[in-house]
Amino acid sequence: MFDALGSDYEEAFAASEAHRASLAWLLERLPPAARVLDVGSGTGRPTAATLTAAGHRVLGADVSPVMVEIASRQVPDAEFRCGDIRDMPFEDGSFDAVCLYFALLQMSRAEQSGLLHRLVRVLRPGGLFVLATVPLDVEDFDGVFMGQSVRVTSFAAQDVVGLVREAGLTVLSERSVLFTPARPDATPEPQLFLHCRREATAPAG
Ligand SMILES: C[S@@+](CC[C@H](N)C(=O)[O-])C[C@H]1O[C@@H](n2cnc3c(N)ncnc32)[C@H](O)[C@@H]1O
Repeated sequence: MFDALGSDYEEAFAASEAHRASLAWLLERLPPAARVLDVGSGTGRPTAATLTAAGHRVLGADVSPVMVEIASRQVPDAEFRCGDIRDMPFEDGSFDAVCLYFALLQMSRAEQSGLLHRLVRVLRPGGLFVLATVPLDVEDFDGVFMGQSVRVTSFAAQDVVGLVREAGLTVLSERSVLFTPARPDATPEPQLFLHCRREATAPAG
């Protein structure tokens, strides 16, 4: 689906004030030249572009070759890898921060939970985790997103919060918004942004 959307996705979501504010939250707290993993990095904008411009070292990971090609072109100072995040090995404790904006929705609930536990381990203790998702209590819901058929799985907002806590994160701030993508056919979607820190000791799993 994201191969078909490419830059159209960036245009539709470019006006997201909540995404920009979330990145500002992160920028205020990162150490200089921090190493950041951006999961589901899309076109590289705004996340990798904003962090790289502030002097941070970004590794973006995305399963869509089209997205990786666009991101590599738009943000040449970041590194991008093409592949499924579920299969990518990373060293434990090797990142100062993980960003995960809207990249969980095509995974099963068990996969979302498993991925969060693993991503917490790749953070150094005290590292920051910013996550955004569409908080809906749905499993394998067949819908249409920007003209493309899509199957979506997610959790209600309180269950997303429960999930990140179980994974070993402390939620420092939480924001819920309704966002309407810039598309003629778009309807408002709920979005949940969580700004978190890894506890000194993350649970095994
Ligand atoms: C909704 S877009 C969000 C892009 C970007 N994070 C943003 O907020 O602008 C989701 C991105 O996650 C990627 N993605 C989805 N599932 C993935 C997976 N299992 N592994 C890596 N990337 C994935 C998609 O290809 C897509 O580029």
